[in-house]
Amino acid sequence: MHAFTELVELFEIHFAKRHFPEQPSTLYDPAEYILRLGGKRIRPVLCLMGNELFDDITQDAYHVASAVELFHNFSLIHDDIMDKAPLRRGKPTVHALHGEPTALLAGDVTLVAAYLELTKVVRHSKKIMQLFSKTAMEVCEGQQLDMDFEKLQDLTLEQYIHMISLKTSVLLAASLRLGAILGGAGEGNQQHLYEFGRKLGIAFQIQDDYLDAFGDPEKFGKQVGGDILANKKTFLMIHALQEASASDRTKLQSLLSSNPPDKVEQVLGIFRNCGVDAWARELKDQYLEGALNHLEDIAVISTRKKPLFQLAHYLIERDK
Ligand code: IPE
Ligand code: IPE
Ligand code: MG
Ligand code: MG
Ligand code: MG
Repeated sequence: MHAFTELVELFEIHFAKRHFPEQPSTLYDPAEYILRLGGKRIRPVLCLMGNELFDDITQDAYHVASAVELFHNFSLIHDDIMDKAPLRRGKPTVHALHGEPTALLAGDVTLVAAYLELTKVVRHSKKIMQLFSKTAMEVCEGQQLDMDFEKLQDLTLEQYIHMISLKTSVLLAASLRLGAILGGAGEGNQQHLYEFGRKLGIAFQIQDDYLDAFGDPEKFGKQVGGDILANKKTFLMIHALQEASASDRTKLQSLLSSNPPDKVEQVLGIFRNCGVDAWARELKDQYLEGALNHLEDIAVISTRKKPLFQLAHYLIERDK
């Protein structure tokens, strides 16, 4: 069994090549740029872990891991356009450097590269293609809901969880399951592993939303406060709209339809007044616990599950 850091290294060896043709460099260099900025490589590692839970890691698993990381990067390039984000992984976003039209195409070719990688898969290729494509479509659904919610105020926690489940957690869940399919896992084990990933992915996005508000800009690598500026309906915002004192709620509602220069500071003050730290803790723990129950139910000896167990804890405590 390999630990998270070892699998990142193994994946990087496979992934550290040029993924695109040389010309036109005005298209392919921006696409290559984001891949070289690094990132935590969580999804490909989940794919390798899902594979290794049941068998030795196969060459197919590296192809699928690459496809998943390429798809993730495609979604980030487009997400940064949608979210008007200036920074990613501590560097300017693709659209900030090259403009939105080029960033759209750089995203498009990265998605195509993901599918090309999938064509290299030898075994279980139809099942892999089906799950990958279903997941890709769900991510787009989640991303649309994320934008739709910017304009709405009366959202429930359930609606938020549904949205983040689609935009974020199904990709983590599918990464694990794709690896498990390649490892020859049975249907029941696949389902438990998928649910483990889905619940963990929810806790992961909760942490992302928390860091977007309260993270250390040096470590986080993205613009802190970006979600507040975009009126994103994160659990922080939903909780504050429900729980804030009458005067704070009125202030928050008016901040959602205005853009004063100190908007981020004002909203953060209201979040703090609502005790969101404790709430984030509770919500993450709830989903982590649900995830770990599914991990427990997977029918392989528990020592094989250790890397997943460790990764789960790291993901919800991370600071970047
Ligand atoms: C960012 O994902 C997008 C979300 C779903 C929150 P990561 O936090 O995994 O980003 P990188 O790949 O490590 O940069
Ligand atoms: C992004 O959610 C999910 C996808 C990219 C599909 P966020 O918008 O919160 O991700 P970051 O914070 O920009 O990485
Ligand atoms: Mg974003
Ligand atoms: Mg977004
Ligand atoms: Mg975010």
